[in-house]
Parts: sequence; C-alpha cells; structure tokens
Amino acid sequence: MITLNVDLDERGYPIFIGRALLGRSEELLAEKIVSKQVVIVTNETIAPLYLDEVVAKLKAFDVETIVLPDGEQFKTLDTVMQIFDALVSRKFGRKVTLIALGGGVVGDMTGFAAACYQRGVPFIQIPTTLLSQVDSSVGGKTGVNHPQGKNMIGAFHQPKAVLIDTDVLNTLDSRQFSAGLAEVIKYGLIRDASFFSWLEENIGLINQKESEILAETIERCCQSKADIVEEDEHEGGVRALLNLGHTFGHAIEAGEGYGEYLHGEAVSIGICMAADLSSRMGWLSRDDVERITSLLKKAMLPIVPPSTMKREQFMRLMAGDKKNVDGQLRLVLMRKIGDAVVTDQFDSNALKETLDSYGRE
Ligand code: GLY
Repeated sequence: MITLNVDLDERGYPIFIGRALLGRSEELLAEKIVSKQVVIVTNETIAPLYLDEVVAKLKAFDVETIVLPDGEQFKTLDTVMQIFDALVSRKFGRKVTLIALGGGVVGDMTGFAAACYQRGVPFIQIPTTLLSQVDSSVGGKTGVNHPQGKNMIGAFHQPKAVLIDTDVLNTLDSRQFSAGLAEVIKYGLIRDASFFSWLEENIGLINQKESEILAETIERCCQSKADIVEEDEHEGGVRALLNLGHTFGHAIEAGEGYGEYLHGEAVSIGICMAADLSSRMGWLSRDDVERITSLLKKAMLPIVPPSTMKREQFMRLMAGDKKNVDGQLRLVLMRKIGDAVVTDQFDSNALKETLDSYGRE
C-alpha cells in the first residue's frame, strides 16, 4: 500500500492506495471516525458488489446505509434531499461520519450532504471508479448539477481520508474505465509532459488493467492532484488548470442532457477542442494536437463533439462557466504538452472556428 498526504494543516488527510484495501477499511479508517455513528452512501450498482463487505469490516461502528440511484442525471438537489431525509429521520447528530462508496456522483453528493448537514459533518471517500480515484475524490469539491450548468451548486469540504482499492477497477465497465483515462491524460497535459510520454508508452498495459502500471498511474495522478490542491485549495489560481477540457465538456454534458455522455467522455472531447483552439492560435503544434487525439483514441474515448450541438449552444452554456470573471469567458489552453494556462486572452475568431469546424469536416 502507498500512502500519500494532502497537506492542508488541520484539514489535511491521507490517501491510501493499494490492492484489497476494502478489506482493511476498519484498520485504515477507524481513527478518522469520531463516534460510533457511520452512514455509508452508495448507489444501486455498487451496493450489490461492495456494500456488504465494507459494512462487515466496520465492526466497531453502528453502520447504516443509503442507496441512491446510479447516474449523472441523479446528481441533483432532490437526490441530496434523500440523504438529508434519511439523516434527519434517523436522528443523526454532528458526530456522524458519512462514507461515500461509489464514483464521482456519489462522492460529490455525499460530500455536499456532509458539508451542509447540521452545518458540516465529517466524511470519507471510498472511490470505486477510475475517474473518482484519480480526480474527484481528492480535493474537497462537492456539489450537484443545475439543469443549466454542471456542478453549479456546491461547497468545498475536504474528506477525512480517501481509500482507493485498485481491485475494484476489475468490476468497472470498460466505458467507465475509459472515462477515467480522460482525467488521467489531463494531468500529463497540464503540467507533466514526462507523464504524458509515459502514458503514450503504457496505454496498452493500462487498457489491460495491468496492476502495477495501473497503481503507478493512480499514484502519479493523486500526487499531482494533492500538490495542486495544497497550492490552491479554493481555485484562486493553479487549480483551475484541472479544468482543461471541462469548459467545453461541461457544456456538452448539460447540452446533451446529463448522463448522455459520461463526464470523462465529455472531457475527452473538450480536451480535443481546447487543443484545436490552442493550435489555431499558434500555441500548440499540429504534431502535439495529433499526439493528444491519438492517445485519447487509444484510450477508447470520443474526440469529436455531438453533431447536434452548434456554436450558439456552446457559447450560451459556456457563458455560465464557474471560471468566468465579470462575464468574460476564461478557458484552459495549452502552449505545449505539459504547459497549460488559464486565460481570457484567446482569439475569439479562433474560438468560433473551433466551435464551427472542429470534428465537423
Ligand atoms: N476536478 C477538478 C478539481 O478538483 O479541481
């Protein structure tokens, strides 16, 4: 097992990464749980696979469970209300610890419920998808979607621990696995060109879920995420780089209807659109654009936007992006592989060309 630390003083926490860690839940998490009361929040897909195992391991605690429907379309205030209803009706107090057992949707909603319930209770992340293991379970972003914008309602609330059992990826379906790879590739693009090259060399083994390569992949992403979050917990600066591909991607998720595209699939397309725009502005070479789209394709990810989404719809949805300042659109673009910047100084004609032409020839 590897332990990384997110160093945020009193809000700091460990990330445990390794095989068969669900079986060590009590040993690893007990000191992070502040009373006997534990509520595990999961979804209908994960519950039959792993819920009994985790409940059985937490022997020293009184564990209750909440099972939510599965899917991005359920990442709403209504679903979070189901968590509140269960907590209130079972009379849980401020010392209850919530555990999110699931992917990014479960993690974000459980974290948000923990941030709000009785003005804040502790929570722990046990991510079960590649995407949540490498990105969303670390860093304390929690929340739900609004029909007009992804993750529009939320709070920063750091978990007390993140437990990543890499064995659970064996039951993850291939579409979900690929979606996680979009966020993996993102880390190479934003500030680690050597990681990007390493991914190009190892994508075949990663696709085969070769255990040591996969563990190294997850560790490198979590380390990168921890470094960025330590530097900029509340996204005043460098953390916004983690949004590479997300401005376009979030527009696709909202525009096509939540759940139509997996988050990572929309991010993959968004990365390609950001690369296309960066290249139209003379920042990124065509060779680099080709390397990026080729790696995403090898990760079995989509790289072109839905034909139904036109420039006007993109512009309308992107106008509400959380990174915008004073109504000015800000985008994450690349100067080269491993060197991304957040900027409002992009060429608006080039953006129009990307939205009108990329993937539509
Ligand atoms: N997923 C982007 C972030 O945590 O900042």
